[in-house]
Amino acid sequence: MNIKASSQVLGVIGDPIAHSFSPDMHNAAIDALGVDFCYVAFHVSPDRVGEAVNGLRGLEILGLNVTIPHKLAVMEHVDRISEEALAVGAVNTIHNEDGNLTGHNTDVYGVVKAIERVVGVTTFPENCVVLGAGGAARAVTYALGSRDEVKQVTVMNRTVERAESLAADMEKITGKRIVPEALDAPTEARVFGDARLVVNTTSVGMHPKTDASPLLDPAHVRPDLILYDTVFNPLETQMMREFKAQGAPAFGGLDMLVFQGARSFEIWTGIEPPTDVMKQAVVGRFA
Ligand code: ATR
Repeated sequence: MNIKASSQVLGVIGDPIAHSFSPDMHNAAIDALGVDFCYVAFHVSPDRVGEAVNGLRGLEILGLNVTIPHKLAVMEHVDRISEEALAVGAVNTIHNEDGNLTGHNTDVYGVVKAIERVVGVTTFPENCVVLGAGGAARAVTYALGSRDEVKQVTVMNRTVERAESLAADMEKITGKRIVPEALDAPTEARVFGDARLVVNTTSVGMHPKTDASPLLDPAHVRPDLILYDTVFNPLETQMMREFKAQGAPAFGGLDMLVFQGARSFEIWTGIEPPTDVMKQAVVGRFA
């Protein structure tokens, strides 16, 4: 890639950041488009988040992605927060327009687009389940609850108090029935029996503990229950294998990663990037 004096800088901040897939993904898109941008990773420690965000103005950096653990902390350092980011309570994208910083959340778009594209449904099931109650769960619950056709989202979490707090917030924001539940086998049997889509947002099964799965009993999985696992490393999780073994469709988080990145790229540059190229760049890292 050809970085010049005129190149506009994009990047990602996080802690840790050295293993991020975002530079591969965005630089592949920049190369394919032949446009004058470059994308770098910045390690930012939690006590320097304010300085890092203010640095965007000083260095005239066009845009940033924000990853763990800074998605909440950056919110107090931007000038404006989009409706979605406000609803989710997290910012994963900052856009610098002449020193004016707007915080966005493209995870919401990413999960909806991934489900539409790879799962192949444009009408979501009335009854959906979210596993987990962290930041990713908030984005997914908001995304599902914002769909007209979705009537109920059940949020199952190991720490049920977190599910209760998330459900209360999202019920207010979306106006849908958001039901908090514990993550245990009897609840799984009951909740999975009524649902057609499960989205895993827990970190269970993520590299390096790839043998783990948040599924408590494979017998609770019917062939008409779809799994979207937001975990993308490994590309196929243990939970996905368990669903497939029951004849149920299962999809991994790679597409959500690509679509949230593509949306960020479009916000910064106004250009729709080639998502197939971005996906291949990430897959290449696993080769
Ligand atoms: P993120 O912001 O990426 O969603 P997080 O806030 O750390 O990350 O949330 C991780 C989620 O995975 C939580 O729902 C967590 O459950 P708790 O709220 O009970 O901690 C869930 N999780 C992590 N390890 C788990 C495990 N071994 N079993 C079940 N759930 C787990």
